[in-house]
Amino acid sequence: MSPQVKLHQILDWDSPQQNASLRRELATGLLQAQASIAPKFFYDKLGSRLFEAITELPEYYPTRTEAAIFARHLPAIKQALGEDFTLIDLGCGSCGKAGNLFHAEILPARYVAVDISVDFLRDSLQHLKRELPAIEMIGIGLDFTHEFQLPDDVPPKRRMFFYPGSSIGNFSPSEAGRFLRRLATQMDTSGGLLIGVDLIKDSALLDAAYDDALGVTAAFNRNLLRHVNTRLDADFDIGDWRHVAFYNPAETRIEMYLEARRALSANWPDGAGRSRRHFAAGERIHTENSYKYSPEGFTALLTSAGFADIQVWTDPRAWFALFFARRAG
Ligand code: AVI
Repeated sequence: MSPQVKLHQILDWDSPQQNASLRRELATGLLQAQASIAPKFFYDKLGSRLFEAITELPEYYPTRTEAAIFARHLPAIKQALGEDFTLIDLGCGSCGKAGNLFHAEILPARYVAVDISVDFLRDSLQHLKRELPAIEMIGIGLDFTHEFQLPDDVPPKRRMFFYPGSSIGNFSPSEAGRFLRRLATQMDTSGGLLIGVDLIKDSALLDAAYDDALGVTAAFNRNLLRHVNTRLDADFDIGDWRHVAFYNPAETRIEMYLEARRALSANWPDGAGRSRRHFAAGERIHTENSYKYSPEGFTALLTSAGFADIQVWTDPRAWFALFFARRAG
């Protein structure tokens, strides 16, 4: 780590405590009638790289569309953020989106990069710091989807949370409401939230975005089992599992699963020995939902979570929206 970049590792995937709690979480999900594995298991180093590759696919429109909205509305976004603010980038990944803002002269006093994938975060932040040495940079390895407290070196004034890419869609609407309420409590009325949200649209476009012709999303989905095998000593045979993803219009969400190609069993360690589950051919493990919103629906969610002065920018096809909201007084 370069001396100018501070790193707080609040989530340490490898600590015995964390490992035990991840194992409990894995067992709980796998033993439910509808088996599930939490989407956070996507993001080991390889998973984060596969996600970066997804964002370059022709079918995966969100990243490109959001970038075009930024490019088109830069002056208004710059004005909304104001001066002398701390940019807190939730799920920063490669820090590329924040880097684009900085190169467009939207410059915070301080950049706080938060990500669950600590190794990826360290590399990304060091790279950005080399490009922009004048900005103070702090990295935090944290699972911000749970209750969290920012360290004392993040001043309380003018905290601008940055949550691009429609990651909010990976929560259910009620979880999203709770998450947004928690964010509101992490800022005072000088703070705000800049957030990207994917919009409801034609099913065929959505289906293709989550089941691309190259199979990168399939690799991203199946890598979750590889991560669980290496991290938690499970014994999934990755070749036995097929990627399934489709849009569910009634729930306005993409649903993603891994489907057993044949009848099989998988086992993983529990406290005493090993637990096992049998899967019938065609049985699925749920791995992710990705909710889509209408502009009105998301505005209502922000308002009920304690935000006000809401501005929204969208693209000409209304595929994606960028919201800026201030903490209500
Ligand atoms: C990170 N998140 C916003 C992505 C999404 O679109 O829900 C994750 C993803 N899953 C499959 N493709 C992309």
